[in-house]
Amino acid sequence: MKFIHITDTHINAPGKTAQFPVSHHVEKVEQVFKHIQDTNVKPAFALITGDISHGGDVEDYQFIRALFDKGAAQLGIPFYVVLGNHDHLPAFREGYLGQEPSDEKYYYAEEIAGLRVIGLNSQIADKPGGIIDDVQLAWLKKQLEQPAPKGTVIALHHPLIHLGDLSLPGMLVENRQQVMQVIHETDVVATFSGHIHTNYFANYQNVLHIAGAGTSFTVDFSESKGNVSFVDLCGYSIVTVHENDGVTAQYIELPRPRGEYMTLPLASLTDGHKK
Ligand SMILES: [Fe+2]
Ligand SMILES: [Fe+2]
Repeated sequence: MKFIHITDTHINAPGKTAQFPVSHHVEKVEQVFKHIQDTNVKPAFALITGDISHGGDVEDYQFIRALFDKGAAQLGIPFYVVLGNHDHLPAFREGYLGQEPSDEKYYYAEEIAGLRVIGLNSQIADKPGGIIDDVQLAWLKKQLEQPAPKGTVIALHHPLIHLGDLSLPGMLVENRQQVMQVIHETDVVATFSGHIHTNYFANYQNVLHIAGAGTSFTVDFSESKGNVSFVDLCGYSIVTVHENDGVTAQYIELPRPRGEYMTLPLASLTDGHKK
């Protein structure tokens, strides 16, 4: 079974304050949808792992819902989203889900052709970092008591990956060890996240963890020397969950001019990457 992993679309409704003076965030999401459509890949669904909005008010989420619905219709597949630190729960519930606005965390389990997709909410109100709260941990544990026919994948915004020198406060799920414990020796085959805007991969106890670079911009840590550059790159992953034979992910980088949006000191990222 194949599916698409997209992350960090950072979209505002047209006319709202964009993330950068010149932003191409909507165009890039449409570029991704077109690229998927033009491939021979027939994904079963798409996972979008948070920071779907940049500033997240009701109008933004109505715009994003229309954009994603158009993409879902174009590709003929359902989209599953989770929320990131740039998202706002009440506005998301109202504008995206068409519900009463509330702070109630958004998490779920869905089975698609035998594969279970679990979406978690790793937001911490008004902070850039992430956590899976006790209520969700207990819920997750309960869900995983029964295996799904083709295994389980988990989507969440903040990575469960240890990032070495980049493991600054606010980058990871704070209680990642607790989450690891809950998914250990269950049918979870992989987790998908975003937030760090660069591709990172890890394998802990036979679970593959992927943090994607996202569509809106890529953070280039390679030129570092204490600085990071925000560059106009855009990509997505095609993920295959093989029958009893592991998971593979192919990252597709789309052609972009690679313009630079800005350069910041690495140490400022935890302050800079907030709501
Ligand atoms: Fe982001
Ligand atoms: Fe984020």
